[in-house]
Amino acid sequence: MSDSIHSAIVASTSPAGRPIWLLEGKRTAYAFGLDRFGCLQHMYWGPRLRAASDYGEPGPALERFAHERVEGVSQEEYPAWGDIKYLEPCLKVAFADGVRSVVLRYAKAAILTDGEAPELVITLADEHYPLLVDLHYRLWREHDLIERFAVMRNTGDAPIRLEQTLSALWHLPLDETYRLRTLGGRWGGEFQISEVSVPLGKQIIESRRGITSAHANPWFGIDRNGSASETHGDVWFGALAYSGNWKIVVERNAYGQTMVAGGIHDFDHTWKLDAGESFTTPSFVAGFTAEGYGDASRLLHRYQLDVVMPRSTASTLLPVLYNSWYVTEFDVNFENQAAAARKAADLGVELFVMDDGWFGVRDDDTSGLGDWSVDKRKFPAGLTPLIEYVNSLGMEFGIWVEPEMVNVQSDLYARHPDWIYYFPTRPRSESRNQLVLNFGRADVQAFVLSFMHELLSNHKIRFVKWDMNRSFSEPGYPDAEDGREREVWVRHVQGLYRIFAELREAHPEVMFESCSSGGGRVDLGILRYVEDFWMSDNVDPLDNLLMYEGYSMAYAPKAKMMWVNDAFHWTNRSPSLTFRFHQAMTGALGVGANLLRWNAEEMAEAREHIATYKRIRPIVQHGSLYRLASLRQGDWAAFQYVSADATETVVLVFLHASRYGASRRWLRLQGLAPDAQYRIEGAETVLSGAALMARGVQIELRGDLQSTLLHLKRL
Ligand code: GLA
Repeated sequence: MSDSIHSAIVASTSPAGRPIWLLEGKRTAYAFGLDRFGCLQHMYWGPRLRAASDYGEPGPALERFAHERVEGVSQEEYPAWGDIKYLEPCLKVAFADGVRSVVLRYAKAAILTDGEAPELVITLADEHYPLLVDLHYRLWREHDLIERFAVMRNTGDAPIRLEQTLSALWHLPLDETYRLRTLGGRWGGEFQISEVSVPLGKQIIESRRGITSAHANPWFGIDRNGSASETHGDVWFGALAYSGNWKIVVERNAYGQTMVAGGIHDFDHTWKLDAGESFTTPSFVAGFTAEGYGDASRLLHRYQLDVVMPRSTASTLLPVLYNSWYVTEFDVNFENQAAAARKAADLGVELFVMDDGWFGVRDDDTSGLGDWSVDKRKFPAGLTPLIEYVNSLGMEFGIWVEPEMVNVQSDLYARHPDWIYYFPTRPRSESRNQLVLNFGRADVQAFVLSFMHELLSNHKIRFVKWDMNRSFSEPGYPDAEDGREREVWVRHVQGLYRIFAELREAHPEVMFESCSSGGGRVDLGILRYVEDFWMSDNVDPLDNLLMYEGYSMAYAPKAKMMWVNDAFHWTNRSPSLTFRFHQAMTGALGVGANLLRWNAEEMAEAREHIATYKRIRPIVQHGSLYRLASLRQGDWAAFQYVSADATETVVLVFLHASRYGASRRWLRLQGLAPDAQYRIEGAETVLSGAALMARGVQIELRGDLQSTLLHLKRL
């Protein structure tokens, strides 16, 4: 057997002499090879084995059945729709002559080692038509993750219509039963965890709203037999890096196969691939762990910190921010912002963000979107006096924008009523009184870039909250080139990414936040351009603990922005300031309360919390997260953060309600050095890492909505 080893991607041959490829992570392996027809067949995905021969043979691992291909049921890596195949196809096309079947065969393979991660590129070619498909496999070895995407290339001279263009299909081990975990919700209730035993048939999670959506998030977790926990069990998991219409299809059939396919949604999607053009799918990153959902999350978190998040700020700690939205809403002016800023600075806040209402004529949500010049009624001398004032208080300044939108009541709409998505014979349905601009249009992109450049070049703005407050409807583009009408969905996302890339390049000192009425645009695609996500408009701290548990299945604590507030119209709860701070301290910390109403005592307490947060912030933002207790299973939630070298750990513990007079519970910590001694800050107790992990610490809380923070340091 002759192996050529490039990093941890191995091109080898099977015992029967067939070409195979192995992608070996630190603990896991993924294998596939060519069957006798030149089809790419999946072989293995699980713990790393000892030798290449351990991974078996490519080709039907299943019996032959009537009504299927003669050589047996296929486990193709990237099935295209054609011949005798009925699985969810990754690729479906129509050729110019009307033929709608694709037959892909292996053409060549290349291993690239000059990028950030080694990458295997397998090129498949249609047997008859000039269509090439490059399957990219990027191996993030340290993170035990594989990032897959596909590139379709038209090498002929007639257009090809792409109708389904998924990023990847993942095969799970055959003949097993599985449980699927997904994240779903709605506005004000994002990231709810939901589980189902994978039934025969298909489970589809998707967005057809034009955005990632609060209703489902492009992440999946699947565990063997439904037996995995936070700390134990085989889990396969993955996330799509895409912010438009997407779908993830979990399919199980009666041949023992379970598969996960995902990418751009085929709903209302076609793409005209002209001669010489190529189309690249978004990335779908996935991994396997034998150590439960906690480890699955940590692998994804570390990958986000190391690879996905903007490089310019990846090692920078996110500032404590203040946002005035819940206090002033649209009624912003120099005086009320300056007054809030003075109080915020007094607390130790580092970044002051002015939300909606500063531009156009924007006294409520019925007008102004699209008119991005400062409202002189509210800021007669422009924004600079406020920014300078905020800076003089020792804080940076940030601002809110919603560039993808327009109100009918705006100058922009009066000038360009055709810049939105619309069907000429249908109403232009408004949502939150607004319409979506067609970001696929070059003139719209130029307009947005120009006002954003102007805003950022003429003001000392260091943070932009980029909002997106409605789903798409009537996605028409009457001026689209013939045959390209349905490309709007994808072109919108491409336009958005292009604008973000250009803004980040031109204004490297500016940080961005992704907001979409809360957590409607949280995904790995947008995370390449933003520092954080506004997780939910629902700022109730108890609801937030539940949402954070779901959020953290997929996304890094650092990227979760949540404010300490004082009005919880969602739930009418009145938790203590400590509880509110502790909850918001589980990620990037913000404050959104009416500080003018806080008394001296509250101000003093908040100052303490913010000072504490600044001490623990490196561990929370750059450490590893362990979920120790879940409100889904009882009254307690606990999140532990461990520094990279395990010298420090922070535990935030929350009690919903005391029951039956009980007030104590043991928490077993994780991720510590067993032989090291740790001291609990503020206490005399010194315990070994082994004891903290095996016996744990006892926490005492009594009452409703109680919380505490433990900070342990290695001696
Ligand atoms: C959305 C956001 C809020 C706020 C408002 C402003 O609802 O999620 O945080 O910015 O818009 O209109």
